[in-house]
Amino acid sequence: MILVTGGAGFIGSNYILGWLRRGDEPVVNLDILTYAGNPANLSALVADPRYAFHRGDICDQEMVESLLRQHSIRAVIHFAAESHVDRSIHGPDAFVQTNVVGTFRLLEAARRHWLTLPVQDRDRFRFLHVSTDEVYGSLAADDPPFRETGRYEPNSPYSASKAASDHLVRSYHHTYGLPVVTTNCSNNYGPFQFPEKLIPLCIHNALSGKPLPIYGDGRQVRDWLYVEDHCTAIERVLAAGRPGETYNIGGWNEQANIDVVRVLCGILDEERPRVGGGSYADQITFVKDRPGHDRRYAIDARKIEEQLGWRPADTFATGIRKTVRWYLEHGDWVASVVSGGYREWIDRQYGR
Ligand code: NAD
Ligand code: TYD
Repeated sequence: MILVTGGAGFIGSNYILGWLRRGDEPVVNLDILTYAGNPANLSALVADPRYAFHRGDICDQEMVESLLRQHSIRAVIHFAAESHVDRSIHGPDAFVQTNVVGTFRLLEAARRHWLTLPVQDRDRFRFLHVSTDEVYGSLAADDPPFRETGRYEPNSPYSASKAASDHLVRSYHHTYGLPVVTTNCSNNYGPFQFPEKLIPLCIHNALSGKPLPIYGDGRQVRDWLYVEDHCTAIERVLAAGRPGETYNIGGWNEQANIDVVRVLCGILDEERPRVGGGSYADQITFVKDRPGHDRRYAIDARKIEEQLGWRPADTFATGIRKTVRWYLEHGDWVASVVSGGYREWIDRQYGR
C-alpha cells in the first residue's frame, strides 16, 4: 500500500485517480484539507475499497508514524505543501511550517517506520518527494534549461521552503540511508487546479466577464506540463528511479504568460463564444508585477528520458484544449471551490 500526502490537492488528486486507473495497489491519502484541498476531487472513489482518506497534518509525526505502520506502507509520495507563490509573499509562515517542518516530520516518521521493516522490505521502501523547478531560480533568455546538477537559487518564500525540504530529503538518504527520490517539475496545468493559478484563474475570469490579470509585461516564461504527464513521470520514478537521485520533469514547452492566455482565449472563443461578441482576449489587463518575479523557468528533461524512458504524452495544444473543456464541463466544481475565503484572497491580491 502507498501513502500519498496532499492527495486532495490539484496534482495529488490527479495522481491518485490515475494510480487506481492503471493498477490495483491501495492508497491512503493523508491531507489536512487547507483551502487547496478538496475531497470532492476524489468523490469517484468514495466506495472504492482500494482508497482510504485520513484527514490530518503531516507535522503530526506520531500520527503519521502510526498510519505508516497500520497500513504497512511501502512508499510515501509526498505532495502536501503550500504551493502558491503569491500567497507565500503575503504570508510565508505557513510555507515554512508545512513545506519545511512538515517535510521534516514526515521524513522522521518514515525513517522510524522504515527501520522496523524486514531487511528485504527496507530496500524496496521509497520516499518520493515531489518538488519544483523553482528551486533553481530564474533563467535569462539565452541560458540553457535547468539540469539536475544546477545550483539552487530560490527567490520566493515558496521556492526557498521547497529548496529547504529538498535538502532535508537529500540528507536523510546521505545520513540514514533512507531510500528517497526527488522530482523537480515545471508548471502543471489540468483538471482540479485551484483557480488562483494562472490558467484556471483566467478561464474562470474569462467566463465571469472579469479582467484577465497579466503581471508586468507578461513575457515571463514557464515550461508548462499537462498534469497527467507529471503523474506518469512520478509513477516511473517510483518504479525505477535510483534512491538518492533527483529527476527533472518538464514538458519541453516554454511559453510566455501572455501567449498562454491568448491561446486560452482563442480556445474559449471557439468552445464557448462570448455573449455579445468579441474575443475573451479583450478582457486581458496588465497589472502590477509580482515582487521578485522570476523571469524564466525551463527544464532539461533528458535524464528521466534517457534513464527511465519517460517523455510527456501530451503537447501543449492537446493538453490545454482538454483543460479548457474540463473547466467548461465542471462549472459546479469551480463554483464549489470559489468560496468566501477565496474571494477575500482575490480582493487582497488584485484589489491593489
Ligand atoms: P495544492 O496546493 O493544489 O495541494 C496541496 C495539498 O496539500 C492540499 O490538498 C492541502 O490540503 C494539502 N496540505 C497542505 N498542508 C498540509 C499539511 N500540513 N498536512 C497535510 N496536507 C496538507 O498543490 P499542487 O499544485 O497539487 O502541488 C502538489 C505538490 O507538487 C507540491 O509539493 C508542489 O510544491 C509540487 N509542484 C507543483 C507544481 C504545480 O505546477 N502545481 C509544479 C511542480 C511541483
Ligand atoms: P502561477 O500559476 O502562480 O505559477 P508560478 O508562479 O508557480 O509559476 O503563475 C504562472 C505565471 O503566471 C507566473 O509567471 C505569474 C503569472 N501570473 C499572472 O501573470 N497573473 C496571475 O493572475 C497569476 C496568478 C499568475
